[in-house]
Amino acid sequence: MNDPRTRIYLSPPHMCGKEAEFVSEVFASNWIAPLGPFVDRFEQEAAAQVGRGHAAALSSGTAAIHLALRILGVDAGDEVFCSTFTFYGSATPIVYQGAKPVFIDSEAGSWNMDPNLLEEELRQGAARGKLPKAVIVVHLYGQCADMDPILAVCARHGVPVIEDAAEALGAAYKGRAAGGMGWASVLSFNGNKIITTSGGGMLLSDEEEVVRRAKFLATQARDPAPHYQHSQLGFNYRLSNVCAAIGVGQLCALRQRVDRKRAIFEQYRRRLQGLPGFSFMPEPSWSFSNRWLSCILVDPKQAGTDRESLRQALEAQNIESRPLWKPMHLQPVFAGCRARLGGVSALLFEQGLCLPSGTAMTDADVDRVASIVERSRR
Ligand SMILES: Cc1ncc(COP(=O)(O)O)c(C=O)c1O
Repeated sequence: MNDPRTRIYLSPPHMCGKEAEFVSEVFASNWIAPLGPFVDRFEQEAAAQVGRGHAAALSSGTAAIHLALRILGVDAGDEVFCSTFTFYGSATPIVYQGAKPVFIDSEAGSWNMDPNLLEEELRQGAARGKLPKAVIVVHLYGQCADMDPILAVCARHGVPVIEDAAEALGAAYKGRAAGGMGWASVLSFNGNKIITTSGGGMLLSDEEEVVRRAKFLATQARDPAPHYQHSQLGFNYRLSNVCAAIGVGQLCALRQRVDRKRAIFEQYRRRLQGLPGFSFMPEPSWSFSNRWLSCILVDPKQAGTDRESLRQALEAQNIESRPLWKPMHLQPVFAGCRARLGGVSALLFEQGLCLPSGTAMTDADVDRVASIVERSRR
């Protein structure tokens, strides 16, 4: 029922039924903690999904990025390039390692890292004799970055690429799965993602040694000894068997979730695309987006409203929406960090809004949101 008083959330968890079955199995077997058979199964099934050889299930996507940087030996004084248009958790692990982020702006066509700006920054770095230890490329809102030129220029300079595919499970670039292209890749199973383990993440790579190191560091870097002995700094970053069982259940529904996200986006587009001043996140010909969130731009000069007024109009009707990510180069915590800018991400933040995109939304729910958007114009 489309009760107009019911709150519509941005992207809440959506269980398919298998999760409870698998969690019951966990309880029956008493494999509650720490690891267990569902962790192995979740790693294998997620790795197969993105076409990777190996995977380590972890407590969060942020932890996965942190371990990737640590395994690459990122240290104080190093630089790591990162998409500026992203969530905070893409960039904070750079600072955990004592290194400096350098932010790269987006291109208008995909909203992701601009390969030309990356190339310029790498060229200048090479000329100065200081190349980054890694480039973190984010696939935002379920859409891949333009990976061919990004991978090519990074390979030319010998810089490894970490794909932040936290939001992009189920998406593809020229037929290749998001998370299956860089030196290593990261997924998030945070509560708002396309599939969730209530909280969790994963580091994936084709290099077995990378994933072996990640698992070692994520379990407190415990040396092989009968007592507890540690020769290196470790972390408590592993995912529990209970959460992994939720993840295995959620993976069963991934294809349906992607289809539903895309259908929700299309329904919004059909309803709203003719409105002056309104536009949608583009999807380049090489992209298959999972449409994690349906993102619109509201040009206040033409739309008869602006992003914040629209957000408030939706909130007044008990509907959650959210501005697009505030770019990292505009975040106070990163003031003073170098950035290679072209103005795209700042404009996206100014004009962009994420509409509710939960896969359990009915068509009537989507219509309810779209009607409020239409009526919000002056
Ligand atoms: C693009 C991106 N990177 C990294 C993360 C961090 O993942 P987590 O919340 O699992 O730490 C998130 C989301 O939460 C994200 O959206």
